[in-house]
Amino acid sequence: MTKAPTRLWGARFEGGPSDALARLSVSVQFDWRLAPYDLAGSRAHARVLGGAGLLSDDELTRMLAALDDLEEACKTGEFRPTVADEDVHTALERGLLERLGSLGGKLRAGRSRNDQVATDLRLYMRDHVRLIVSRLVELETALISQAEANMGVACPGMTHLQHAQPVLFSHQLLAHVHALSRDVSRLRDWDRRASVSPLGSGALAGSSLPLDPQAVALELGFDAAAPNSMDAVSDRDFAAEFLFDAALIGVHLSRLGEEIVLWASTEFRWIEMDDSYATGSSIMPQKKNPDVAELARGKAGRLIGHLVALLTVLKGLPLTYNRDLQEDKEGVFDAVDTLLVVLPAVSGLIATMRVNTERMEALAPQGFALATDLAELLVRRGVAFRDAHEVVGHLVVWCQVNDKDFDGLTDEELAKVSPHLTPDVREVLNVPGALASRKAYGGTAPDRVQEQLTALRAAVDTQATWAADS
Ligand code: ARG
Repeated sequence: MTKAPTRLWGARFEGGPSDALARLSVSVQFDWRLAPYDLAGSRAHARVLGGAGLLSDDELTRMLAALDDLEEACKTGEFRPTVADEDVHTALERGLLERLGSLGGKLRAGRSRNDQVATDLRLYMRDHVRLIVSRLVELETALISQAEANMGVACPGMTHLQHAQPVLFSHQLLAHVHALSRDVSRLRDWDRRASVSPLGSGALAGSSLPLDPQAVALELGFDAAAPNSMDAVSDRDFAAEFLFDAALIGVHLSRLGEEIVLWASTEFRWIEMDDSYATGSSIMPQKKNPDVAELARGKAGRLIGHLVALLTVLKGLPLTYNRDLQEDKEGVFDAVDTLLVVLPAVSGLIATMRVNTERMEALAPQGFALATDLAELLVRRGVAFRDAHEVVGHLVVWCQVNDKDFDGLTDEELAKVSPHLTPDVREVLNVPGALASRKAYGGTAPDRVQEQLTALRAAVDTQATWAADS
């Protein structure tokens, strides 16, 4: 005889659910990853039931031992959910009943899957946000190390993807670090707000049993218990906010990815990817493709999608728990999985790329990238910027027509364009001078970039400590 499946709500129903409902309703295939967190919540809840006299000392001891045993069995795979288990909570209650008989049924007192699932998801996410921050720190470190190794190397700085002004390549690499560093800061802010425990809220109204939500919250590493049980079981702001953070990380990775795709192209040739982070073509023997960077760029699509999907699920939901909320998890899990698989690959790509410094240096002044320096020199000599802009603009056109660059101009040619263009204007027509002159805070002058790098290293160290210790 096959055993009837464990259900947490069967009593008032005649017969079991239809296959179609069961197939629609089941979530254990994805929420099983919450099992360790559900078990942690169960241990805390068991202690509270013990403290309230709802479990005797002996029952509490047996309950905790069974939970430990079940956790071990989950780890080894000896205990597994089956298709008949509706969700992770049902599966684990079955495991407890198998171990304790009717005593296993006492743990559900004062608890609902509504407060359980909200708690489990927060716990899972707080753990995994720390892993994501660790991976972000590795990427930041890879970028900072390349910035350090290539300190002093100039490259074309671009706006509209056109040569604008020369910058230090390190300055550009560190720009990406700032974006990632804000991502970390957002996740740390998120963590403070997510540090609220819904356990004790029950289905929606709290419990008539003498539970101790504050004690449970602290045992589970939360800062506090939720002050409103209705909000606690229906709030998924923490999931939406995380998905925004994940989507923005995706956007940042896509922008970095796009730059790497460009840098690795024959047209740019700024970098050479290490073979271990590039792929070949099945037909074109010469190809070396930037698939890591392209996948980093492409994954932004699903990360943004998860945010939009959850906001759409949440919009218009009445208080409190509604089954729609079961749709919160897969997007969150996929966002976590995606970031944990993309970040190490991008870090490896950055850490191992070789920078073609000569090529970059040669390109840095091209496209008349020193035109602004020339105009600003004239301004320092008393020419109105409007006039200076015009003079240099004419010079650029003259060069284009005569197929010349700024550095190939004779004294006569300069003077022909404008009397302001005396031979000594050449003093600013060089890349090191242009870089050094941008020495105000935040600029690309080598000293400023070195300071920036030192500050970022310190900030990233603090982030690493937070991820490891909190
Ligand atoms: N699997 C459900 C979810 O993820 C658990 C909560 C179910 N609660 C309920 N009352 N049906 O949301």
